[in-house]
Amino acid sequence: MKAIIVTDQAAGTAGMELVERPKPQAAINDVVVQVHAAGFTWDELTWPPTWVDRLDRDRTPSIPGHELAGVVTAVGYGTTGLSVGQRVFGLTDWTRDGTLAEYVAVEARNLAPLPGDVDFTVGASLPMPGLTAWQGLFEHGRVQAGQSVLAHGAAGVVGSMVTQLAREAGAYVIGTGRAVDHQAVLDFGAQEFVDLENDALDDVGPVDLVFDVFGGYIGKRSAALVRAGGTLVTIAGPTEARPADGLAIDFVVESDRAQLGEIVQRVRDGRLRTNISTVATLDDAVAAFNRTERRKGKSIIHVRP
Ligand SMILES: NC(=O)c1ccc[n+]([C@@H]2O[C@H](COP(=O)([O-])OP(=O)(O)OC[C@H]3O[C@@H](n4cnc5c(N)ncnc54)[C@H](OP(=O)(O)O)[C@@H]3O)[C@@H](O)[C@H]2O)c1
Repeated sequence: MKAIIVTDQAAGTAGMELVERPKPQAAINDVVVQVHAAGFTWDELTWPPTWVDRLDRDRTPSIPGHELAGVVTAVGYGTTGLSVGQRVFGLTDWTRDGTLAEYVAVEARNLAPLPGDVDFTVGASLPMPGLTAWQGLFEHGRVQAGQSVLAHGAAGVVGSMVTQLAREAGAYVIGTGRAVDHQAVLDFGAQEFVDLENDALDDVGPVDLVFDVFGGYIGKRSAALVRAGGTLVTIAGPTEARPADGLAIDFVVESDRAQLGEIVQRVRDGRLRTNISTVATLDDAVAAFNRTERRKGKSIIHVRP
């Protein structure tokens, strides 16, 4: 099969190569999926599990990409719940070969059925941002109607989902980002916009929940904006930033079939819109990832046009 591999962490996306690789086999509880569309997160080549397995051993050459939409072509021993020929979408294991390939082996529990009226491109764009936003807001942040949410990077891939889901849940949403994205953030449903490039964070009052995608200095400053009893949720890695009188939670998203179903249903009925910037074929993927112009949304690869 055709697949994109990486071998050199220092090279970043410039070190990606399109090569021939053996087709994967379905292990216990796996399915093999013929990938129709795959999602790639712009900085995933900086994530340790792209390079090492669970025991910290080198696993290169590895195939990046953790989101997919496609069709099941084989089921492994013990697999239940999915069948050959079924349309699926979901999020794959961080430490296994990923989805920038014609086929991928993935645990069936990481996938959900993809309804026939949702195309593969849209399906592949939902798992990472949709599940991350869902888990950050509802499982970790326990957001309630009437609460206020500061959604960082609200025009970005995760932030745009956070903004839409928080708004739908009845929260008051303040979205942050670059000045150029002011209107995009309001279009995703934020009631207010904060221009981080002009340091407007000082004007934000205490909020019930901060959803941080940046960490660092912005994460630290945001902790001080959490009201007593509120929560700082971050996806930017382990954090020292803590609200004076509240919770700080950093987490890594996990796949969840029921939540994937909730997310795709919202896309079908128009409550949620996806945020895709680039669509390229597998043959053109390396060039697409290495373009220098500004990305505004998710990169999706049409593996099977
Ligand atoms: N822990 C987890 O489970 C998890 C899950 C998903 C993602 N992540 C991580 O979360 C991060 C965000 O991912 P994403 O896909 O949402 O990225 P993204 O699409 O690039 O979103 C970030 C947004 O914030 C903007 N931004 C960046 N720096 C800014 C600054 N200094 N001031 C104002 N705006 C700024 C970006 O604009 P520009 O594009 O112009 O920079 C973009 O609109 C990534 O590091 C990703 O790896 C973690």
